[in-house]
Amino acid sequence: MQKELVIVLDFGGQANQLIARKIREQSVYCEMLAYDEDVEKIISRNPKAMILAGADLRSNLLNQQLLGLGLPILEVPKIKELSTERLEHFLFSEVGLKGDWDLIGFIQETVADIRAKVGDKQVLCGLSGGVDSAVAAVLVHQAVKDQLVCVYVDNGLMRKGESEEVIKTFRDKLGMNLVYADAQERFLSKLAGVSDPEQKRKIIGTEFIRVFEEEKNKLGEIDYLVQGTVYSDVIESGTKTSQNIKSHHNVGGLPEDMDFKLIEPLRLLFKDEVRKVGEKLGLPPEIVWRQPFPGPGLGVRVLEEVSREKVEILREADAIVREEMKKAGLERSIWQSFAVLLPVKTVGVKNDARTYAYPVIIRAVMSEDAMMADIAKLPYELLELMAKRIVAEVEGVNRVAYDITSKPPGTIEWE
Ligand code: XMP
Repeated sequence: MQKELVIVLDFGGQANQLIARKIREQSVYCEMLAYDEDVEKIISRNPKAMILAGADLRSNLLNQQLLGLGLPILEVPKIKELSTERLEHFLFSEVGLKGDWDLIGFIQETVADIRAKVGDKQVLCGLSGGVDSAVAAVLVHQAVKDQLVCVYVDNGLMRKGESEEVIKTFRDKLGMNLVYADAQERFLSKLAGVSDPEQKRKIIGTEFIRVFEEEKNKLGEIDYLVQGTVYSDVIESGTKTSQNIKSHHNVGGLPEDMDFKLIEPLRLLFKDEVRKVGEKLGLPPEIVWRQPFPGPGLGVRVLEEVSREKVEILREADAIVREEMKKAGLERSIWQSFAVLLPVKTVGVKNDARTYAYPVIIRAVMSEDAMMADIAKLPYELLELMAKRIVAEVEGVNRVAYDITSKPPGTIEWE
């Protein structure tokens, strides 16, 4: 079925994706294209209307040919000034759209498409524990059931309970084929003696690829690879005007020469839509609402040299931060909140005795896209509670501090 399409022409500006999301919230399907997109291409998509995001018709950038198409056009020079009422009026009264798009329809259509594309071939998916790969895997599983094999690499740098959660959800609850590759020792021994952050990232990234390839080779003929690419990645790499600089971090990415055809079931969805699809497909909140977590995991939060002992200390401290954030009802509204372990020791006192142990830093930030971040102004009572619990419950920690640096000049992670 041909769905109603609105084209959002992107004239640059960080807020432009907001327009597209607002349109989709109105059950109208839209796609974003660069302001200087080939006119033939736009016509071939048969759009019902166009929205100029970040420009008006007087803008001399606008191609005259586009104006000649006679499509209804809404000019939105300042995104933040576009009210929902104005948008609704444009879409439903001026253009006369029905609003024929929703996520249930999306799921049905995507499942049918994947089934037709894959036929009786085999499909592989690397699960990272993150929401995108999880939702992509479940969508593909709905389509091809046991033709899908998921591989989860446990690098020993995951947070408390995460690996167990992945096994419980995908294998036990959803009945999916899951290969659990326990590579904890391998990663930790490769990291021994290494303290440079970039070298640590490289080692973790390379080892991930090795383990993944080994597991793949055990599986026999595989034709397709599932990737959890989401729409913001597509727009950032495809729209010349986009102000977003794509994250330079790609640890956990796969080598380009792997001989697979790709399935990217989420490539047209925004992150909030991915989460909604995940909920509809029965994924637990711990996975659907998981905060962003770096590919190298706790490996870049144990500063300098990583050891099993330090990872275990950090894992326990971090679990307390997560638990208290959750209890305070804050974990979903905050971009990232976590603990960092410093590679120094400080003097303290416990049960009348002197201690000499590690300090833990609590980091919590608000952000839209990780490019910039403000510190989260967590209540003092909450910080105090976390600090008290960490020093009381985590052996090896005797001091807690809160990082009050925004990005820039700080980065979100400490390494
Ligand atoms: P920074 O620390 O650069 O982080 O402000 C921005 C965002 O990227 C995440 N991050 C990473 N993600 N591999 C990843 O996949 C990495 O090596 C990496 N380093 C940082 C970080 O958690 C934040 O969300």
